Amino acid sequence: MQKLDKLYEGKAKKLYATDDPDVLWVEYMNQATAGNGAKKAQIEGKGSLNNRITSVLFDLLAARGVDSHFVRRVSDTEQLVRAMDMYPLEIILRNTAAGSFAKRYGVEEGTELKQPILEFCYKSDDLGDPFINDDGIVALGLASKEELDEISRQARAVNDALRDIFSKIDVQLVDFKIEEGKTSDGTILLADEITPDTCRLWDLRDGSGQIEHLDKDLFRRDLGNIIPAYEEILDRLEALADAEGVARRVTLA
Ligand code: TMP
Repeated sequence: MQKLDKLYEGKAKKLYATDDPDVLWVEYMNQATAGNGAKKAQIEGKGSLNNRITSVLFDLLAARGVDSHFVRRVSDTEQLVRAMDMYPLEIILRNTAAGSFAKRYGVEEGTELKQPILEFCYKSDDLGDPFINDDGIVALGLASKEELDEISRQARAVNDALRDIFSKIDVQLVDFKIEEGKTSDGTILLADEITPDTCRLWDLRDGSGQIEHLDKDLFRRDLGNIIPAYEEILDRLEALADAEGVARRVTLA
């Protein structure tokens, strides 16, 4: 597989074409951003950690019957994925009140929700990714009703599987954001990344009674260095994948 022209550069990843039109080459960068790019930093080691975390998570999800665009990891900071037509949606699942939800409804962070909440934001940097509901998505043609039903079903299945995974490594899955896309043959699939950049993960081994963040809130809220936290997540996930004998999709050059 050959890495060809750069197609896109986002806030945390670069995307390249390959000699196979159905496969893209993703490079994870060290850049960290918050507040729609208002806060920015280069954090040595972050790209490698996120590439390895999302790879092992896609393998753990596959072992639980949840498919994704992930093909295989090819280096510390790079992976191959299936080429997708992405829906312009941030798909957010919440199990515990935190972040913008806690603020919006005046609920204390950490309040358990009586059921998971599925939310959508319209991906647009210019508009600041505004909240959108099902009717708005269909009315604007961002996805058809049938596609949205499938996206929602998959998002809830991802939540069930991720909750199982994180509970086994003593981490509370507070909330997370995923993205979905469609392959050239029309298959709707989980895409993008699942990392501590895109999840709120609280340590249940801590025991101090304080919230111990193992996610990007450390950076967003100036609470400390993200690297040891991300390393802890990777170590626990790798140990779980080994213990479960999960097939790992990796071919290092
Ligand atoms: P929020 O509480 O700020 O709405 O975030 C909910 C979850 O979604 C949290 O785990 C962080 C993640 N998220 C992203 O990954 N990217 C984003 O642009 C936003 C707004 C949230």
